[in-house]
Amino acid sequence: MTATLWAVSDLHVTFPENQAIVDGLSPRHHGDWLIVAGDVAERIPDVVRTLRGLVARFDTVIWVPGNHELFNRRTDRFNGRSRYRVLVGQLRAIGVITPEDPFPVFGGVTVCPLFALYDYSFRPPGVSARQAVDRAVVKLDDEIAIAPYVDVVQWSAERVEYSERRLAAVTGPKILVNHWPLVVEPTRRLRAPDIALWCGTTATRDWAVKYNALLAIHGHLHIPAETRVDGISHIDVSLGYPFEQHPPHLRRPWPFPALELP
Ligand SMILES: [Fe+2]
Repeated sequence: MTATLWAVSDLHVTFPENQAIVDGLSPRHHGDWLIVAGDVAERIPDVVRTLRGLVARFDTVIWVPGNHELFNRRTDRFNGRSRYRVLVGQLRAIGVITPEDPFPVFGGVTVCPLFALYDYSFRPPGVSARQAVDRAVVKLDDEIAIAPYVDVVQWSAERVEYSERRLAAVTGPKILVNHWPLVVEPTRRLRAPDIALWCGTTATRDWAVKYNALLAIHGHLHIPAETRVDGISHIDVSLGYPFEQHPPHLRRPWPFPALELP
């Protein structure tokens, strides 16, 4: 039986053009799985509605949160860490696999949904995180929609520890999935280098090698490119915003076939 593990990210379904593309996402074979690597939408009901549609079509759907799912508004009932817990609870209830669930196995390869967040450590040497954020010419909305509601640096440190414990407990080949890249190199393509501050943590740098990854899937940058680091591919599977353009040499197939079974 042929089956494919597909990977997508940054669906941003509040754009009607993107919603139409997501509506057209469907398996090619019975038994196809789908990774959704964060940034489905900002509102929890939109995230749940979108994933419910995908769960109905794909055999298995695996999700990790992006920064947009974690965006808070003062008027929301759940913010900060409780917002993440609510997302996990509602997505589990419709059958989605989250970073809080046992890692699923596709064709002998363990698929590891991770949520390592970011901690401003992708910054120039000799500068504190605070200084780097204050000096940044371009700042992500995270500073108004996440940072006031939760200590991101502390949360990221806890997530890194939790994820490492779980990764170390599994032997055999893996596919690592995280919204933010696990290594800094993909952020070098950013047109505004300051944005790297909100793009990951140096604490995950050796994970792909250390934990026997066949490849690492990420999104966030909206630059659908492949970056080889220490012989392992880190692939940005973003759909991104409708108005974004990318040179053809960077573009990967979308949805990205992360693994194909014969
Ligand atoms: Fe995004």
